[in-house]
Amino acid sequence: MQPFHPNWKLLEELRQRFLEEKFSGGSYWKESETLVQYDHTFAERIGWKWRAVLGELAERQCAPRNPITLVDWGCGTGIASRTFLQVFDPDQVARLVLWDRSPLAIEYSKKRIQDQYPQIEITSGLERLSNVDFSLCISHVLNELSPRELDSLLLLVQKADWLVWIEPGTPKLSQALIRVREQLRSSFEVVAPCPHQGACGLIAKNTQDWCHFFAPPPSSVFQSSQWSEFSQRLGIDLRALPTSFLVCVRKQSPNWVIPRLSKTTRVLGRARHYRGYSQALTCSAAEVTETKFMARDQSQAIDIIKQKTITQWVG
Ligand SMILES: C[S@@+](CC[C@H](N)C(=O)[O-])C[C@H]1O[C@@H](n2cnc3c(N)ncnc32)[C@H](O)[C@@H]1O
Repeated sequence: MQPFHPNWKLLEELRQRFLEEKFSGGSYWKESETLVQYDHTFAERIGWKWRAVLGELAERQCAPRNPITLVDWGCGTGIASRTFLQVFDPDQVARLVLWDRSPLAIEYSKKRIQDQYPQIEITSGLERLSNVDFSLCISHVLNELSPRELDSLLLLVQKADWLVWIEPGTPKLSQALIRVREQLRSSFEVVAPCPHQGACGLIAKNTQDWCHFFAPPPSSVFQSSQWSEFSQRLGIDLRALPTSFLVCVRKQSPNWVIPRLSKTTRVLGRARHYRGYSQALTCSAAEVTETKFMARDQSQAIDIIKQKTITQWVG
């Protein structure tokens, strides 16, 4: 790959567009330079989220049983499917379908993936999916979709065999993913982040809290002058990668191992630490609630919630 030289003006414009949610007026992938700049910066960060979420799945032995057809919907530079291929065995992907409203983005991600995995068949249309089982990656698209586009994406989601959907960890996007979860849970097993299959406890609670987690960036980022400049110029905190996500597998799917969960209680968001105790929002089948962990007799749980991992089980 060519050495990367950041174009700060272009990156600042892209960042501004994402912050203002200005997505009308056609694709922002006007030229391949924009994709290159995005790929080495914003997409890298998104890749750290994918690594954390897929890492949790791999750890729980949620893996394909047979070579699958993997669809990367709204692929951009293809970071979701590329990270999938890094975390899981690439021989378990028979065909990769890249889909984006931008043909330039499809072309870019196709080239990047083909260079590294020439054995994988890569196509770009959704029409050949009607009679095949497929697994679906969706990443950072919700903000950009009109209600009609979202409806049509949800029709595709309903046909998938396995779904990982990752979005920024904002209240609005967390709520949108919870709505998707509620639509899917009668025909899908909810694998993550939820410790149960019932209705989302945040809906019942009618609260300001939202379902989000923090993915850890690689430690090398903190030694990199380029990432430091990225952080300063764009006002992005490199330590915090807030993310909301949803992982579902179709019930009785022949293609995926559905992991059984022995844990019951997961921390949402970030724990707060005080003298003598810590407090965190926790999710279990019973409820989403604020839980207090006393330092004198719950030091093990406190060690867990101090870890910089996306997965923090305290029960
Ligand atoms: C913020 S980028 C995310 C790209 C990539 N998934 C990632 O996580 O880096 C959003 C992507 O969604 C694509 N997109 C937006 N609306 C779309 C639509 N209606 N159909 C297909 N792709 C769409 C955009 O072209 C863009 O590539």
